[in-house]
Amino acid sequence: MIRVKSRQKIEFGDFQTPPELAVAVCRQLQAEGLVPAGVVEPTCGQGFFLEAAADIFPSVRSLVGREWNRQYVADAKARLHGCQAKVDLKQADFFEQEWPKLLRQQTGPVLVLGNPPWVTNSQLGSLGSNNLPAKSNFQRQRGIDAKTGKANFDISQWMITTLLESMPTAGGVLAMLCKTAVARKVLQQAWNSALPLARCSIRGIDSRRHFRAAVDACLLTCEVRPGEHPQTCEVFANLEDTRAESTLGIYEGRLLADRNALERHRHLLETESNKRWRSGVKHDCRDVMQLQRRGWSLVNGLGETVELEPDYLFPMMPAGKIHRGETRQTDQFLLVPQSHTGEDTSTIESKAPRTWAYLRRHADRLAARKSSIYRGRPPFSIFGIGEYSFARWKVAISALHKQLSFRVVGPQEGRPVMMDDTTYFLSLRTRKEATQVATWLNSAEVQEFLTAWIFWDAKRPITTDVLQRLRSF
Ligand SMILES: C[S@@+](CC[C@H](N)C(=O)[O-])C[C@H]1O[C@@H](n2cnc3c(N)ncnc32)[C@H](O)[C@@H]1O
Repeated sequence: MIRVKSRQKIEFGDFQTPPELAVAVCRQLQAEGLVPAGVVEPTCGQGFFLEAAADIFPSVRSLVGREWNRQYVADAKARLHGCQAKVDLKQADFFEQEWPKLLRQQTGPVLVLGNPPWVTNSQLGSLGSNNLPAKSNFQRQRGIDAKTGKANFDISQWMITTLLESMPTAGGVLAMLCKTAVARKVLQQAWNSALPLARCSIRGIDSRRHFRAAVDACLLTCEVRPGEHPQTCEVFANLEDTRAESTLGIYEGRLLADRNALERHRHLLETESNKRWRSGVKHDCRDVMQLQRRGWSLVNGLGETVELEPDYLFPMMPAGKIHRGETRQTDQFLLVPQSHTGEDTSTIESKAPRTWAYLRRHADRLAARKSSIYRGRPPFSIFGIGEYSFARWKVAISALHKQLSFRVVGPQEGRPVMMDDTTYFLSLRTRKEATQVATWLNSAEVQEFLTAWIFWDAKRPITTDVLQRLRSF
């Protein structure tokens, strides 16, 4: 059972900013030339950011804070007692606040500063919490994307976007601590909806040290200003760094990790929408479908020695071997009961009776596969299968590893080699073609082009979506 205090901490994403970090953030903003007249802290907690802003910006004439937790509001009031600027602190729910009105009321350049709650809607869901916007995409998205997992949103993403959309048309600056992944999503959304963002930056912070949180976090700064909107964001490794390590951008609605790399290699962009990169076979039943050669026998994941006709049995190259470049030989095999998605499997019975009996013996396991994609399909169905799977030559890359290494995989004992869904590949006709394509994919030019799209800190940074951006050889 979650204790009350930690439950509240989770529900309200309660990680108070330590005073030294609040000060360092304000100093950095000052070094960038910021001279705010008003500071608004939308979820001000105990008020460390407001206190730091009051100390560091002599220009500040008004400090506004809103916070759900009453005790924190009282703490923040005590902290700002005796402050020169006009102080307006109130207990309020972020989602009930009229942000455009409140921000419009500020006179002079406004700085929206803070550190919104660190919590996702699915964490709130498992707590049965209602700390969510009442009517928003958030909730609609929950239903639609629940199956795919895309529905998992950070509340701070919604909050920061709401604030950016509420900034006065005359302009202002927003500077917020958040997860780096949230900062990127905010920028992507803002750029796609043409918000008037001028200068933007992401500066890494040490979240382990400051918040004891094991997540990449940053200071996201966005200047809202009518006029030119470059749709770029400089990325700095640390708060005080003066040299950016990369520049984010956007291309056809998709976020770019390094827009300069794309600029240098624009000629490599795919202009057609033909799907060439495939992922391997999805079967979700390793114990039954994957077999290992031991001497003259094949053994499945349950330790059973199995004898099957060769018809539906193919050599299989695991992602680890592809990553390590050990693609000459494999002692693993994959049972491939279909040659295209949805194919009737009952014909296996007459063509390969032992294979049929084996599948029937494990029918319960195969029927118990969790993913809903198997429902209503022929028994023993697999996905990610088609003519392309049976190409004799392939160029493959592991999706499990964070390395752009493309390997040639040729037939084994005359049979095309299969991959599973942790691998992406291109199908090719000849060894020569495959070797040429792999050499090209491993060239410095192509690798740099691909890194333009890849966020290496993602769990699985290499995706077919990224690979598909590259034109054909
Ligand atoms: C990450 S803490 C940061 C606090 C403060 N901004 C700081 O930097 O120290 C997030 C704060 O958001 C507050 N909060 C969470 N949900 C809220 C809501 N719906 N409305 C207002 N404040 C909320 C929490 O109580 C907590 O104080």
